[in-house]
Amino acid sequence: MKSINKVVYLLAISALSGFSACTSGGNDPGVEYAPDMYVSKGYEPMSQLADQERSITFQDTVLPISADGKAMRDPVKNTIARGQLDYYFPYKPNDQDEKEQAGRDMKNPLPLTQENLEKGRHYYNINCLPCHGNKGLGDGKVAAKYPPNYIPSYKSDRVKNLEDGSKYYVITHGWNFMGAYGRVLKPEARWQVVHYVNYLEQN
Ligand code: HEC
Repeated sequence: MKSINKVVYLLAISALSGFSACTSGGNDPGVEYAPDMYVSKGYEPMSQLADQERSITFQDTVLPISADGKAMRDPVKNTIARGQLDYYFPYKPNDQDEKEQAGRDMKNPLPLTQENLEKGRHYYNINCLPCHGNKGLGDGKVAAKYPPNYIPSYKSDRVKNLEDGSKYYVITHGWNFMGAYGRVLKPEARWQVVHYVNYLEQN
């Protein structure tokens, strides 16, 4: 080995052993080498960006990165994020006219298949059965907390006369003393439950 090579070799060894001393342990976090690799300079979503470091300097003027100084832009008014259309529900809650309008406007987009019915049963048993009972007769355990016969049976004309869209409305917003399930069940799951409610009306 030429002596110059020896020097490079020794330098490499000592550099390596130097790095190996950087290990952390116990309460000692060790030495942070090139901290930018660990701690990103990315913007915090919705944070205010008025401070110099996170702003753009233009002709000696420090500008926040956006007009309101937020890293993440607010969605444009009256727009719906891509793929979120289903979550937009235009009907006002607990209003007879709105419920009927929903019944005229909306049809169940899901076909009545074994799979949709099974899923509907699954979600029904978790969310609705405690009050409405396993056959939809309004006799679940929690129903005892309501006045007698307060919860309508699905076999009653009151429920049978509801259009699918009105049932979807009731599930989404709740109705009088029934709570809302719009934030609990995805739109698809709500329509599956509608299928299952229809099934219980007949069976
Ligand atoms: C905590 C008890 C409770 C749970 C859970 C519950 N309901 Fe109800 N439900 C009621 C009560 C009470 C009423 C009667 C509402 C009223 O008029 O005050 C009702 C009424 C209804 C009606 C008839 C609404 C109308 O316009 O006449 C339907 C349909 C219905 N529920 C479906 C469901 C479905 C589907 C679920 C599950 C996603 C569910 N309910 C969960 C208590 C409940």
